[in-house]
Amino acid sequence: KNNVSIGLLGLGVVGSGVIRLIEDHQEELVHQLGCGVDVKGVLVRNLEKTRDVQVDRSYLTTDPNDVLHNPEIDVIVEVMGGIDEARKYILEAFATRKHVVTANKDLIALHGQELQEAASRNQCDLFYEASVAGGIPILRGLVDGLVSDRIQQVMGIVNGTTNYILTKMNEEGVTYEDALKEAQELGFAEADPTADVEGLDAARKMAILSRLAFSTDVELEDVEVKGIANLELADLQYGKQLGYTMKLIGYSNFHNQHVEVSVQPTFLSNQHPLAAVKNEYNAVYVNGEAVGETMFYGAGAGSLPTATAIMSDVVAVITNMRLGVNGRRFVSPRFKKELTPPEE
Ligand code: HSE
Repeated sequence: KNNVSIGLLGLGVVGSGVIRLIEDHQEELVHQLGCGVDVKGVLVRNLEKTRDVQVDRSYLTTDPNDVLHNPEIDVIVEVMGGIDEARKYILEAFATRKHVVTANKDLIALHGQELQEAASRNQCDLFYEASVAGGIPILRGLVDGLVSDRIQQVMGIVNGTTNYILTKMNEEGVTYEDALKEAQELGFAEADPTADVEGLDAARKMAILSRLAFSTDVELEDVEVKGIANLELADLQYGKQLGYTMKLIGYSNFHNQHVEVSVQPTFLSNQHPLAAVKNEYNAVYVNGEAVGETMFYGAGAGSLPTATAIMSDVVAVITNMRLGVNGRRFVSPRFKKELTPPEE
């Protein structure tokens, strides 16, 4: 079979990871697909920048049309981040009948519904496994793995920066400021870490998780958010003496067709499986009626882990292309959100 060609919008940490993974794991892709995957166009901001990944210079471009309108390319991988431009390019990709895989949690949290509808109208796929918890296959775990179950509750540590800060404060008595600085140096904090420490990054991911777990139309503004910026070392240490660990917990609960989503610092009993999730690691703990308790754990960020999530989506798109079923996976919300409980 002929190789499938993809185009990248962006060549930062995640984009470079995708190129490296495709090269190093081509054999796994060929085994699964019966063909290879090639990168045939990469939108970058600066052609001259030195990069630590090997990519054919003739495929680099600063003109999005070279990627979006390249007839050889079937799948657009959006790893540039940001909202407005990324949204515009993705809509354009659908208009030219290209499928889209994105890692953009901000965009999906804000405009997921609009983009999904545009994808379906054009019989295109839109997948975003990499947008929540990096390398952990949590979206597919919810949507496919638990398809027959009724999920009751999702609890997540879905921000590595804050989990790193809280772990350092809790275990080593490091101050909030010093721990934040370390997290930034290690490279998993957002460019502006306000979104991490104020809980907004986690809120975006919880909105996405809640939509898929409960088939609801939860929006970002529906998530009640409180960050960790005002926590005192002394509070954590007091809890610790009593057998509790402070975590920034995303909590989403579905009951009587009402969904409740929040992100807030929470004392967990040390017995809770999420209490053992340390440093920059992420985990999503899911309670389903039939499955009972299950927990997905792993790297929530990073070049290669996030690239595995991207490639799982690319493989799903290619499989759908072969079956001629692109754009059909869109399940419209079964339940309308209703965030205030009904009057008794
Ligand atoms: N800033 C994010 C985090 C990166 O700390 O988890 C992954 O989305």
